[in-house]
Amino acid sequence: MHDTARNYILRGKSIGFVPTMGALHEGHMSLVRRSCHENDITIVSIFVNPLQFGPSEDFQQYPRDFDADSERLRNEEVDILFLPDSSSMYPDRFDTYIEVGDIAKKLCGAFRPGHFRGVATVVAKLFNTVNPVRAYFGQKDFQQTLVIKQMIRDLDMNVDSIVCPTVREKDGIAVSSRNVYLDAAQRDAATVIFKSLNEASESIKAGERDAGSVRDMMRQRIMTEEMISEIDYIGVYDPETLDEASLAEKEVLLAVAVRIGKTRLIDNMIVDFEKKRLSA
Ligand code: PAJ
Repeated sequence: MHDTARNYILRGKSIGFVPTMGALHEGHMSLVRRSCHENDITIVSIFVNPLQFGPSEDFQQYPRDFDADSERLRNEEVDILFLPDSSSMYPDRFDTYIEVGDIAKKLCGAFRPGHFRGVATVVAKLFNTVNPVRAYFGQKDFQQTLVIKQMIRDLDMNVDSIVCPTVREKDGIAVSSRNVYLDAAQRDAATVIFKSLNEASESIKAGERDAGSVRDMMRQRIMTEEMISEIDYIGVYDPETLDEASLAEKEVLLAVAVRIGKTRLIDNMIVDFEKKRLSA
């Protein structure tokens, strides 16, 4: 992969990169299409990264479907599908990790210790191997995009990270590889997540400025759904620091992480109400 990338670069080609863990869906494909549009060469990686899963998480069950994935990519203008295996990514005596600070400790970081260390480490390795000028990430994993931007900035990496909007099903549910874990009733219950984000966003746009009230409203809406077995976090946050916002004054992040049965689902929405208010 290293040599192939170097050859492209020597020939003056720009490389766009879409790192994934496979089980590709329309969310992934939106990143792939954007990369194909903006770069000479698009490289997609599929690697279910053991380092970012906790010991009691779903590494073993995580969906893997190489045939369907390669078929999907064949229909796009993808140049290279990069499929490293665990032993080449983490050979014996592998012992260097990237630990992003504060931003990685909040929200999901508080519930998934070591997760963002695993993400940052694998993304850094992939960047070094693929040598992209641009790398594409989904807003669906908003905190992940902040962790990666922090790493790029702090370690002077020569990559532009580009954040693409969350792709949703018709009923609003964010497309996710983990949705396959849900049975029909759970899938139906999961629509409450988008409903709660949407209601909160509407209330802010209608003039609600108290972040606490918005958070309570989101929580109440989520709790109407009996199948939600746990709420990891829910609320209104500063989209730069991920600290809780007390008063909705500028752009805010609405973010939710819940469990339905054993499945953990996350979603978020950015509300830029100043613009909305002016245009209203
Ligand atoms: P994975 O969950 O496979 O996601 C790969 C990329 O697709 C991520 O940038 C994610 O945010 C984006 N994505 C997922 N669902 C999306 C949706 N509904 N709309 C738009 N984009 C979506 O995220 C990872 O893999 C891993 O942590 C990885 C970055 C590959 C490192 O291992």
